[in-house]
Amino acid sequence: MYNILTLNKISKSGLANFDPELFSCSETLADPDAIIVRSASMHDMELPSNLLAVARAGAGVNNIPIDKCTEKGVCVFNTPGANANAVKELVICSLFLTSRKIVAGAKWCETLKGEGAEVSKKVEKGKSAFAGPEILGKTLGVVGLGAIGVLVANAAKGLGMKVVGYDPFLSPAARASLDPEITVTADLDDVFAAADYITLHAPLTDSTRGVIGEENLKKAKDGVRILNFSRAELVDNAGILSALSSGKVAAYATDFPTDDQLLADGVTAIPHLGASTPEAEENCAVMAVKQLSDYLLCGNVKNSVNLPSLSLEKSAKVRVCAITKGDVSAHIAEALASSGIEVKNSASAVKKDVGYCVFDSDADITDDALEQLKAINGVIAIRII
Ligand code: MLT
Repeated sequence: MYNILTLNKISKSGLANFDPELFSCSETLADPDAIIVRSASMHDMELPSNLLAVARAGAGVNNIPIDKCTEKGVCVFNTPGANANAVKELVICSLFLTSRKIVAGAKWCETLKGEGAEVSKKVEKGKSAFAGPEILGKTLGVVGLGAIGVLVANAAKGLGMKVVGYDPFLSPAARASLDPEITVTADLDDVFAAADYITLHAPLTDSTRGVIGEENLKKAKDGVRILNFSRAELVDNAGILSALSSGKVAAYATDFPTDDQLLADGVTAIPHLGASTPEAEENCAVMAVKQLSDYLLCGNVKNSVNLPSLSLEKSAKVRVCAITKGDVSAHIAEALASSGIEVKNSASAVKKDVGYCVFDSDADITDDALEQLKAINGVIAIRII
């Protein structure tokens, strides 16, 4: 039986995809084999000693200590694309929120409560304060063309916008699924020069932190509107506030508001609702459960952020799985052979400096053989399934 700890509320219907004979889920477990997490920060958490895997029910993994997990031989998964439609819908909604002053206008309407027959007169008189432009024919810059960025770009194109997408690491699959009329660039300056609206869909890394900041905003059109449904730190706080007060930026919609931004003119603050739909929560949980089950039961890896992908149908009684620094699969194969363990099938892969390999055998792995494997230079963790 594998014990799964859930941090945050994870969709029950998604978790129901775990085989109840083999997995037990709980919100309170001292020593879990795996964790499913949404947005809770794991950075200050001591990693449980038996931990084999962490699955992020979502795309961003900045709440997980990836390097620490890798050093301890813990596989970290995410669920790319599973919540992409939910985020896309809120981004498209925010194109209108940043244009048409809908939130400010709705709040103003509420101030008219109790004015009886005067309400309709005051509405007509006051509405000009909340006028805003249409998106038709305007240019949207999409920074990051992963699962969400592609959906946003295509939807905006469908609404009659021109779209310029920026992604220096654009995958062939993403390129193929983009509307062919969408311009793709590897130069971010092209986006700043052309865009009336800029929407961020890049992960938080050292190179994306503060991508919307004083310097880049100087290159943008006056009155540009910025949408941030990725992570707070992609936007420099001082830079956006000063650009809003000078009018350089006409409006900023953020799913990650900071204290300084709340109540600032032009800011629409949303409480991280991008992926908060029952459909997305279920999709993420289903994908996380599937990936965890396949890893824990069979040692297969799909959508891991720290281990290479590897999939091999289990073809014998026992599977030896090894997480390593670099590729030491040949040394592991030699050690198995020298212990008299005949390997029926094997596979190995490397991602950056992390290696992962599996060996199927009908022989029993003795304690001595296991100790030999663990002692091989470069081996981080060995697991026998
Ligand atoms: C993500 O990274 O996919 C989102 O932050 C998901 C969420 O809201 O949990």
